[in-house]
Amino acid sequence: MSAVAIRCEKIAKRYRIGVGRHDTLRDQIAEGVSRLFQPAKGGEAPGTLWALRDVSFEVQAGEVAGIIGRNGAGKSTLLKILSRITEPTQGRAVLFGRVGSLLEVGTGFHPELTGRENIFLNGAILGMRREEIQQKFDEIVAFSEIERFLDTPVKRYSSGMYVRLAFAVAAHLEPEILLVDEVLAVGDVAFQRKCLGKMGEVAGEGRTVLFVSHNMAAVQALCTRGIFLRKGTIWFDGSINDTISTYLRTLEEIPGQDLAERVERRGKGALRLTRVEISEGETMPAGILAAGRPAQFSFYLTGTRSDLTCTFTIYDQYGKPVANFNSATLGPEDVYDAAFGPRITCELDELLLAPGRYRINVALTAGNELEDHLEGAAFFDVDPGQLRGRPVHAHSKYGVVTMPHRWKVPLDL
Ligand SMILES: Nc1ncnc2c1ncn2[C@@H]1O[C@H](COP(=O)(O)OP(=O)(O)OP(=O)(O)O)[C@@H](O)[C@H]1O
Ligand SMILES: [Mg+2]
Repeated sequence: MSAVAIRCEKIAKRYRIGVGRHDTLRDQIAEGVSRLFQPAKGGEAPGTLWALRDVSFEVQAGEVAGIIGRNGAGKSTLLKILSRITEPTQGRAVLFGRVGSLLEVGTGFHPELTGRENIFLNGAILGMRREEIQQKFDEIVAFSEIERFLDTPVKRYSSGMYVRLAFAVAAHLEPEILLVDEVLAVGDVAFQRKCLGKMGEVAGEGRTVLFVSHNMAAVQALCTRGIFLRKGTIWFDGSINDTISTYLRTLEEIPGQDLAERVERRGKGALRLTRVEISEGETMPAGILAAGRPAQFSFYLTGTRSDLTCTFTIYDQYGKPVANFNSATLGPEDVYDAAFGPRITCELDELLLAPGRYRINVALTAGNELEDHLEGAAFFDVDPGQLRGRPVHAHSKYGVVTMPHRWKVPLDL
Protein backbone atom coordinates (compact mmCIF):
# COMPACT_ATOMS: atom_id res chain seq x y z
CA MET A 1 0.00 0.00 0.00
CA SER A 2 1.43 3.34 -0.86
CA ALA A 3 1.04 6.33 1.40
CA VAL A 4 1.53 9.99 0.71
CA ALA A 5 4.78 11.37 2.15
CA ILE A 6 4.62 14.93 0.79
CA ARG A 7 1.60 16.89 -0.31
CA CYS A 8 1.85 20.40 -1.73
CA GLU A 9 -1.37 22.29 -2.23
CA LYS A 10 -1.28 25.39 -4.43
CA ILE A 11 1.92 26.70 -2.94
CA ALA A 12 2.95 30.20 -3.87
CA LYS A 13 5.86 32.21 -2.55
CA ARG A 14 6.32 35.91 -2.98
CA TYR A 15 9.56 37.68 -2.24
CA ARG A 16 10.08 41.38 -1.97
CA ILE A 17 13.14 42.14 -3.97
CA GLY A 18 15.72 44.71 -3.15
CA VAL A 19 15.24 44.11 0.56
CA GLY A 20 17.83 41.37 0.93
CA ARG A 21 17.35 37.71 1.56
CA HIS A 22 15.19 36.54 4.43
CA ASP A 23 16.71 33.30 5.38
CA THR A 24 16.91 33.61 9.12
CA LEU A 25 14.04 33.34 11.51
CA ARG A 26 14.74 36.85 12.75
CA ASP A 27 14.47 38.23 9.23
CA GLN A 28 11.22 36.40 8.69
CA ILE A 29 9.73 37.76 11.87
CA ALA A 30 10.81 41.24 10.85
CA GLU A 31 9.26 40.72 7.45
CA GLY A 32 6.05 39.38 8.98
CA VAL A 33 5.77 42.40 11.25
CA SER A 34 6.40 44.88 8.48
CA ARG A 35 3.77 43.12 6.38
CA LEU A 36 1.20 43.86 9.09
CA PHE A 37 1.73 47.54 8.56
CA GLN A 38 1.49 47.51 4.83
CA PRO A 39 -1.76 48.73 3.37
CA ALA A 40 -3.55 46.04 1.38
CA LYS A 41 -3.11 46.72 -2.28
CA GLY A 42 -4.96 45.62 -5.32
CA GLY A 43 -2.61 44.53 -8.08
CA GLU A 44 1.05 43.83 -7.69
CA ALA A 45 3.28 46.06 -5.65
CA PRO A 46 6.44 46.96 -7.49
CA GLY A 47 9.49 45.05 -6.37
CA THR A 48 7.70 41.81 -5.68
CA LEU A 49 8.63 38.55 -7.26
CA TRP A 50 6.72 35.29 -7.28
CA ALA A 51 9.33 32.59 -6.80
CA LEU A 52 6.59 29.92 -6.85
CA ARG A 53 3.02 29.96 -8.08
CA ASP A 54 0.29 27.38 -7.80
CA VAL A 55 2.60 24.44 -7.16
CA SER A 56 0.66 21.27 -6.35
CA PHE A 57 1.97 17.73 -6.29
CA GLU A 58 2.13 14.63 -4.16
CA VAL A 59 5.04 12.35 -3.51
CA GLN A 60 4.39 8.81 -2.32
CA ALA A 61 6.39 7.29 0.50
CA GLY A 62 9.44 5.59 -0.96
CA GLU A 63 9.47 7.67 -4.12
CA VAL A 64 12.76 9.25 -5.22
CA ALA A 65 12.04 12.40 -7.18
CA GLY A 66 14.44 14.81 -8.85
CA ILE A 67 13.57 18.49 -9.07
CA ILE A 68 15.20 20.19 -12.00
CA GLY A 69 15.01 23.58 -13.65
CA ARG A 70 17.12 26.57 -14.54
CA ASN A 71 18.66 29.07 -12.13
CA GLY A 72 15.94 30.98 -10.36
CA ALA A 73 13.20 28.48 -11.23
CA GLY A 74 12.19 28.13 -7.58
CA LYS A 75 13.75 24.76 -6.67
CA SER A 76 15.50 25.89 -3.49
CA THR A 77 12.49 27.94 -2.46
CA LEU A 78 10.35 24.83 -2.71
CA LEU A 79 12.72 22.79 -0.55
CA LYS A 80 12.94 25.62 1.98
CA ILE A 81 9.16 25.63 2.27
CA LEU A 82 9.07 21.85 2.66
CA SER A 83 11.71 21.98 5.38
CA ARG A 84 9.90 24.89 7.11
CA ILE A 85 12.81 27.28 6.75
CA THR A 86 10.45 29.67 5.07
CA GLU A 87 6.67 29.96 4.92
CA PRO A 88 4.64 29.84 1.73
CA THR A 89 2.76 33.05 0.95
CA GLN A 90 -0.20 30.95 -0.16
CA GLY A 91 -1.10 27.28 -0.04
CA ARG A 92 0.35 24.67 2.21
CA ALA A 93 2.76 21.78 2.39
CA VAL A 94 2.07 18.70 4.46
CA LEU A 95 4.79 16.18 5.19
CA PHE A 96 4.20 12.80 6.78
CA GLY A 97 7.35 11.62 8.48
CA ARG A 98 10.62 12.82 9.95
CA VAL A 99 12.40 15.18 7.62
CA GLY A 100 16.15 15.41 7.12
CA SER A 101 17.28 18.21 4.88
CA LEU A 102 20.44 19.44 3.34
CA LEU A 103 19.82 22.77 1.73
CA GLU A 104 22.21 25.37 0.44
CA VAL A 105 25.22 26.04 2.57
CA GLY A 106 24.19 28.56 5.18
CA THR A 107 20.96 26.96 6.36
CA GLY A 108 20.28 24.16 8.79
CA PHE A 109 23.16 24.57 11.22
CA HIS A 110 23.63 27.08 13.96
CA PRO A 111 26.84 28.97 13.10
CA GLU A 112 27.96 29.60 16.68
CA LEU A 113 27.63 25.97 17.74
CA THR A 114 30.31 23.38 17.18
CA GLY A 115 29.97 20.48 14.79
CA ARG A 116 29.29 18.15 17.72
CA GLU A 117 26.59 20.42 19.16
CA ASN A 118 24.94 20.81 15.78
CA ILE A 119 24.69 17.05 15.38
CA PHE A 120 22.78 16.82 18.66
CA LEU A 121 20.69 19.88 17.87
CA ASN A 122 19.64 18.44 14.52
CA GLY A 123 18.82 15.08 16.08
CA ALA A 124 16.68 16.81 18.68
CA ILE A 125 14.88 18.78 15.98
CA LEU A 126 14.14 15.49 14.24
CA GLY A 127 12.58 14.26 17.49
CA MET A 128 15.30 11.74 18.35
CA ARG A 129 16.28 10.85 21.87
CA ARG A 130 19.81 11.60 23.08
CA GLU A 131 20.74 7.90 23.17
CA GLU A 132 19.50 7.42 19.63
CA ILE A 133 21.63 10.31 18.43
CA GLN A 134 24.59 9.00 20.41
CA GLN A 135 24.25 5.68 18.58
CA LYS A 136 24.46 7.40 15.22
CA PHE A 137 27.14 9.85 16.25
CA ASP A 138 30.19 7.81 15.29
CA GLU A 139 28.74 6.91 11.91
CA ILE A 140 28.07 10.58 11.19
CA VAL A 141 31.58 11.60 12.18
CA ALA A 142 33.14 8.80 10.16
CA PHE A 143 31.12 9.66 7.08
CA SER A 144 31.83 13.38 7.28
CA GLU A 145 35.62 12.92 7.74
CA ILE A 146 35.82 16.07 9.84
CA GLU A 147 36.63 14.50 13.20
CA ARG A 148 39.41 17.01 13.93
CA PHE A 149 37.00 19.92 13.69
CA LEU A 150 34.14 18.51 15.75
CA ASP A 151 34.67 21.02 18.53
CA THR A 152 35.08 24.02 16.24
CA PRO A 153 32.08 26.33 15.69
CA VAL A 154 30.70 25.60 12.23
CA LYS A 155 30.99 29.27 11.24
CA ARG A 156 34.73 28.59 10.95
CA TYR A 157 34.21 25.67 8.58
CA SER A 158 35.00 25.89 4.89
CA SER A 159 31.97 25.34 2.68
CA GLY A 160 33.32 21.88 1.84
CA MET A 161 33.57 20.88 5.52
CA TYR A 162 30.18 22.31 6.20
CA VAL A 163 28.54 20.32 3.46
CA ARG A 164 30.29 17.13 4.57
CA LEU A 165 28.89 17.43 8.05
CA ALA A 166 25.47 18.64 6.92
CA PHE A 167 25.09 15.76 4.52
CA ALA A 168 26.26 13.20 7.08
CA VAL A 169 23.73 14.51 9.59
CA ALA A 170 20.87 14.68 7.11
CA ALA A 171 21.44 11.19 5.76
CA HIS A 172 22.30 9.31 8.97
CA LEU A 173 19.72 10.58 11.41
CA GLU A 174 17.25 8.19 9.81
CA PRO A 175 14.91 10.67 8.21
CA GLU A 176 11.83 9.23 6.58
CA ILE A 177 11.95 12.05 4.08
CA LEU A 178 15.27 13.36 2.81
CA LEU A 179 15.45 16.74 1.06
CA VAL A 180 18.74 17.47 -0.66
CA ASP A 181 19.56 20.65 -2.54
CA GLU A 182 22.57 20.77 -4.82
CA VAL A 183 24.93 18.93 -2.50
CA LEU A 184 26.98 17.94 -5.49
CA ALA A 185 27.97 21.49 -6.26
CA VAL A 186 30.33 21.60 -3.28
CA GLY A 187 32.98 19.16 -2.15
CA ASP A 188 35.40 17.03 -4.05
CA VAL A 189 34.45 14.34 -6.51
CA ALA A 190 35.15 11.47 -4.10
CA PHE A 191 32.83 12.96 -1.50
CA GLN A 192 30.15 13.67 -4.09
CA ARG A 193 30.26 10.04 -5.09
CA LYS A 194 29.97 8.99 -1.48
CA CYS A 195 26.91 11.23 -1.05
CA LEU A 196 25.25 9.80 -4.12
CA GLY A 197 25.94 6.30 -2.85
CA LYS A 198 24.43 7.17 0.51
CA MET A 199 21.37 8.71 -1.12
CA GLY A 200 20.95 5.58 -3.18
CA GLU A 201 21.03 3.56 0.05
CA VAL A 202 18.48 5.79 1.73
CA ALA A 203 16.25 5.47 -1.33
CA GLY A 204 16.78 1.71 -1.40
CA GLU A 205 15.52 1.48 2.17
CA GLY A 206 12.17 2.74 0.98
CA ARG A 207 12.53 6.26 2.27
CA THR A 208 11.35 9.28 0.35
CA VAL A 209 13.93 11.49 -1.33
CA LEU A 210 13.58 14.85 -3.08
CA PHE A 211 16.79 15.75 -4.84
CA VAL A 212 17.54 19.09 -6.51
CA SER A 213 20.50 19.14 -8.86
CA HIS A 214 21.83 20.56 -12.08
CA ASN A 215 23.77 17.36 -12.62
CA MET A 216 21.49 15.46 -14.98
CA ALA A 217 23.57 12.29 -14.85
CA ALA A 218 23.24 12.17 -11.07
CA VAL A 219 19.52 12.93 -11.14
CA GLN A 220 18.95 10.29 -13.76
CA ALA A 221 20.91 7.67 -11.86
CA LEU A 222 19.16 8.33 -8.57
CA CYS A 223 15.58 9.28 -9.32
CA THR A 224 12.62 7.53 -10.90
CA ARG A 225 10.39 10.56 -11.09
CA GLY A 226 11.16 14.09 -12.18
CA ILE A 227 9.53 17.44 -11.52
CA PHE A 228 10.59 20.23 -13.84
CA LEU A 229 10.09 23.71 -12.39
CA ARG A 230 10.08 26.64 -14.73
CA LYS A 231 9.54 30.23 -13.69
CA GLY A 232 8.04 29.08 -10.42
CA THR A 233 5.49 26.63 -11.81
CA ILE A 234 5.48 22.93 -12.52
CA TRP A 235 6.16 22.65 -16.21
CA PHE A 236 6.42 18.88 -16.35
CA ASP A 237 5.99 16.03 -13.91
CA GLY A 238 6.66 12.47 -15.02
CA SER A 239 9.26 9.75 -15.39
CA ILE A 240 12.77 11.02 -14.82
CA ASN A 241 13.80 10.38 -18.43
CA ASP A 242 10.86 12.27 -19.90
CA THR A 243 11.40 15.12 -17.46
CA ILE A 244 15.08 15.48 -18.30
CA SER A 245 14.47 15.45 -22.03
CA THR A 246 11.69 18.03 -21.68
CA TYR A 247 14.01 20.22 -19.64
CA LEU A 248 16.87 19.90 -22.12
CA ARG A 249 14.54 20.77 -25.00
CA THR A 250 13.43 23.97 -23.30
CA LEU A 251 17.05 24.96 -22.77
CA GLU A 252 17.28 25.18 -26.54
CA GLU A 253 14.28 27.46 -26.88
CA ILE A 254 16.05 30.36 -25.30
CA PRO A 255 14.99 33.26 -27.48
CA GLY A 256 17.34 35.54 -29.33
CA GLN A 257 20.91 36.33 -28.51
CA ASP A 258 20.32 39.26 -26.20
CA LEU A 259 21.62 37.73 -23.02
CA ALA A 260 21.33 41.07 -21.24
CA GLU A 261 17.55 40.61 -21.26
CA ARG A 262 17.60 37.19 -19.66
CA VAL A 263 16.13 37.04 -16.18
CA GLU A 264 17.05 33.46 -15.39
CA ARG A 265 20.51 34.06 -14.03
CA ARG A 266 22.38 34.14 -10.78
CA GLY A 267 25.01 36.44 -9.31
CA LYS A 268 25.46 39.97 -8.05
CA GLY A 269 25.08 41.43 -11.49
CA ALA A 270 27.55 44.31 -11.25
CA LEU A 271 29.17 42.69 -14.27
CA ARG A 272 27.05 40.81 -16.77
CA LEU A 273 27.33 38.76 -19.88
CA THR A 274 25.56 40.37 -22.85
CA ARG A 275 26.51 38.17 -25.78
CA VAL A 276 28.44 35.05 -26.69
CA GLU A 277 29.98 34.53 -30.10
CA ILE A 278 31.26 31.16 -31.17
CA SER A 279 33.14 30.69 -34.42
CA GLU A 280 36.32 29.29 -35.89
CA GLY A 281 37.99 32.68 -35.64
CA GLU A 282 37.59 36.43 -35.88
CA THR A 283 36.82 36.50 -39.61
CA MET A 284 34.83 33.30 -39.83
CA PRO A 285 31.03 32.96 -39.86
CA ALA A 286 29.49 32.62 -36.40
CA GLY A 287 28.09 29.37 -35.15
CA ILE A 288 29.98 27.08 -37.53
CA LEU A 289 32.51 24.75 -36.00
CA ALA A 290 34.03 21.50 -37.16
CA ALA A 291 35.86 18.70 -35.38
CA GLY A 292 39.62 19.20 -35.47
CA ARG A 293 39.36 22.86 -36.57
CA PRO A 294 40.13 25.93 -34.43
CA ALA A 295 37.37 27.35 -32.26
CA GLN A 296 36.92 30.70 -30.56
CA PHE A 297 34.51 31.54 -27.75
CA SER A 298 34.02 35.29 -27.19
CA PHE A 299 32.15 36.64 -24.19
CA TYR A 300 30.92 40.26 -24.31
CA LEU A 301 30.46 41.90 -20.93
CA THR A 302 28.88 45.03 -19.52
CA GLY A 303 32.28 46.09 -18.24
CA THR A 304 35.57 44.70 -17.09
CA ARG A 305 37.68 44.38 -13.98
CA SER A 306 41.23 43.31 -13.31
CA ASP A 307 40.13 40.44 -11.05
CA LEU A 308 37.63 39.09 -13.58
CA THR A 309 37.44 35.34 -14.09
CA CYS A 310 35.43 33.69 -16.82
CA THR A 311 34.46 30.04 -16.56
CA PHE A 312 32.47 28.08 -19.07
CA THR A 313 31.42 24.48 -19.37
CA ILE A 314 30.48 22.65 -22.54
CA TYR A 315 27.59 20.19 -22.21
CA ASP A 316 26.58 17.54 -24.69
CA GLN A 317 23.03 17.10 -25.95
CA TYR A 318 22.23 14.78 -23.04
CA GLY A 319 23.19 17.45 -20.53
CA LYS A 320 26.46 15.81 -19.49
CA PRO A 321 29.39 18.13 -18.90
CA VAL A 322 32.17 17.53 -21.41
CA ALA A 323 34.83 20.14 -20.73
CA ASN A 324 35.41 23.13 -18.50
CA PHE A 325 37.50 26.22 -19.16
CA ASN A 326 38.62 28.66 -16.49
CA SER A 327 40.54 31.85 -17.18
CA ALA A 328 42.01 31.77 -13.67
CA THR A 329 44.06 28.67 -14.44
CA LEU A 330 46.93 30.52 -16.07
CA GLY A 331 48.59 29.19 -19.20
CA PRO A 332 51.83 30.35 -20.82
CA GLU A 333 50.06 31.56 -23.96
CA ASP A 334 47.40 33.70 -22.22
CA VAL A 335 47.42 37.35 -23.27
CA TYR A 336 46.35 40.34 -21.17
CA ASP A 337 45.62 43.62 -22.91
CA ALA A 338 43.36 46.57 -22.12
CA ALA A 339 42.63 46.83 -25.85
CA PHE A 340 40.38 43.75 -25.71
CA GLY A 341 37.67 46.00 -24.25
CA PRO A 342 34.83 44.45 -22.32
CA ARG A 343 35.32 41.14 -24.07
CA ILE A 344 37.07 37.98 -22.95
CA THR A 345 37.99 35.36 -25.52
CA CYS A 346 39.01 31.74 -25.29
CA GLU A 347 40.81 30.27 -28.31
CA LEU A 348 41.27 26.59 -29.06
CA ASP A 349 43.67 25.40 -31.77
CA GLU A 350 41.89 22.12 -32.32
CA LEU A 351 38.34 21.34 -31.31
CA LEU A 352 38.35 17.83 -29.86
CA LEU A 353 34.57 17.40 -29.93
CA ALA A 354 32.76 14.83 -32.01
CA PRO A 355 30.04 16.14 -34.37
CA GLY A 356 26.83 17.01 -32.51
CA ARG A 357 24.99 19.73 -30.66
CA TYR A 358 26.43 21.32 -27.56
CA ARG A 359 25.56 24.10 -25.16
CA ILE A 360 27.57 26.15 -22.73
CA ASN A 361 26.98 27.55 -19.27
CA VAL A 362 28.99 30.63 -18.40
CA ALA A 363 30.00 32.09 -15.04
CA LEU A 364 31.73 35.40 -14.36
CA THR A 365 33.36 36.05 -11.02
CA ALA A 366 35.24 39.06 -9.74
CA GLY A 367 37.27 38.62 -6.59
CA ASN A 368 35.50 35.76 -4.89
CA GLU A 369 32.01 36.88 -5.83
CA LEU A 370 29.81 35.38 -8.46
CA GLU A 371 28.74 38.23 -10.74
CA ASP A 372 26.77 36.38 -13.35
CA HIS A 373 25.87 32.81 -14.17
CA LEU A 374 23.89 31.80 -17.21
CA GLU A 375 22.78 28.34 -18.19
CA GLY A 376 22.44 27.66 -21.88
CA ALA A 377 24.20 30.96 -22.66
CA ALA A 378 24.87 29.67 -26.18
CA PHE A 379 24.47 26.62 -28.40
CA PHE A 380 26.65 25.40 -31.16
CA ASP A 381 26.87 22.56 -33.63
CA VAL A 382 30.05 20.73 -34.46
CA ASP A 383 30.25 19.43 -38.01
CA PRO A 384 32.24 16.39 -39.09
CA GLY A 385 35.83 17.33 -39.88
CA GLN A 386 39.40 16.14 -39.77
CA LEU A 387 41.76 15.85 -36.84
CA ARG A 388 45.37 15.95 -38.00
CA GLY A 389 44.41 14.39 -41.29
CA ARG A 390 42.07 11.73 -39.91
CA PRO A 391 38.35 12.10 -40.60
CA VAL A 392 36.04 12.56 -37.63
CA HIS A 393 32.54 11.26 -38.34
CA ALA A 394 29.30 11.65 -36.44
CA HIS A 395 28.86 8.76 -34.01
CA SER A 396 27.47 10.46 -30.96
CA LYS A 397 26.43 7.25 -29.31
CA TYR A 398 30.10 6.29 -28.99
CA GLY A 399 31.08 9.38 -27.06
CA VAL A 400 31.53 13.07 -27.64
CA VAL A 401 35.27 13.62 -27.66
CA THR A 402 37.82 12.87 -30.30
CA MET A 403 41.58 12.65 -29.73
CA PRO A 404 44.60 12.83 -31.98
CA HIS A 405 46.07 9.35 -32.23
CA ARG A 406 47.92 6.86 -34.39
CA TRP A 407 47.56 3.14 -34.97
CA LYS A 408 50.24 0.48 -35.34
CA VAL A 409 48.74 -2.25 -37.45
CA PRO A 410 50.30 -5.64 -38.17
CA LEU A 411 50.40 -6.54 -41.84
CA ASP A 412 49.91 -10.03 -43.17
CA LEU A 413 52.83 -10.17 -45.63
N1 LIG B 1 15.21 35.34 0.21
C1 LIG B 1 14.92 35.83 -0.99
N2 LIG B 1 14.58 37.13 -1.17
C2 LIG B 1 14.25 37.60 -2.40
N3 LIG B 1 14.23 36.86 -3.52
C3 LIG B 1 14.57 35.56 -3.41
C4 LIG B 1 14.95 34.98 -2.15
N4 LIG B 1 15.23 33.67 -2.35
C5 LIG B 1 15.05 33.45 -3.67
N5 LIG B 1 14.65 34.58 -4.31
C6 LIG B 1 14.30 34.69 -5.73
O1 LIG B 1 13.33 33.70 -6.01
C7 LIG B 1 13.54 33.08 -7.27
C8 LIG B 1 13.71 31.59 -7.09
O2 LIG B 1 14.92 31.35 -6.40
P1 LIG B 1 15.44 29.89 -5.99
O3 LIG B 1 16.64 30.09 -5.16
O4 LIG B 1 14.32 29.10 -5.42
O5 LIG B 1 15.84 29.29 -7.42
P2 LIG B 1 16.56 27.91 -7.78
O6 LIG B 1 15.69 27.19 -8.72
O7 LIG B 1 16.97 27.21 -6.52
O8 LIG B 1 17.84 28.44 -8.57
P3 LIG B 1 19.36 27.87 -8.63
O9 LIG B 1 19.36 26.81 -9.67
O10 LIG B 1 20.13 29.07 -9.07
O11 LIG B 1 19.73 27.38 -7.25
C9 LIG B 1 14.77 33.77 -7.85
O12 LIG B 1 14.34 34.78 -8.70
C10 LIG B 1 15.47 34.35 -6.64
O13 LIG B 1 16.22 35.49 -6.97
MG1 LIG C 1 18.83 26.75 -5.71
